[in-house]
Amino acid sequence: DPALLAEGEKVFKKCAACHKVGDNAKNGTGPLLNGIVNRTVGTVEGFKYSKPMADAGAGGMVWDAANLDAYLADPKGFMPKNKMAFAGLKKAGERAAVIAYLATFGD
Ligand code: HEM
Repeated sequence: DPALLAEGEKVFKKCAACHKVGDNAKNGTGPLLNGIVNRTVGTVEGFKYSKPMADAGAGGMVWDAANLDAYLADPKGFMPKNKMAFAGLKKAGERAAVIAYLATFGD
């Protein structure tokens, strides 16, 4: 759905100070997000994660759409003490749009 992807690209502006996607994306304040949908949590090479984020991945947690939705709705509530300094996206439609947008970027 092109309208959903266009909305997702717009919503991603709220993330882009810390996260990059696309060709030549690099880690910054946050890890690059190419291939994030359905990737094991906390496994972008070269990024230094918080302990809760690293532990979640070591425990086998995957960023499927449901986990991404819950994390983006309330980052600190979903994963206490993770280090993403972002209040979250209150609107379910914005979360769905940005997740659909992220899914267009493979590894
Ligand atoms: C981690 C998405 C906004 C900083 C993550 C992860 C995702 C994500 C999926 C987990 C990455 C992984 O497991 O490899 C998003 C989205 C955003 C957003 C979609 C906007 C809607 C931000 C902002 C900042 C930020 C604005 C900086 C102020 C971080 C940091 C981590 C992280 C530092 C690592 C957390 C840790 O190790 O505990 N983000 N993020 N993010 N994000 Fe964001």
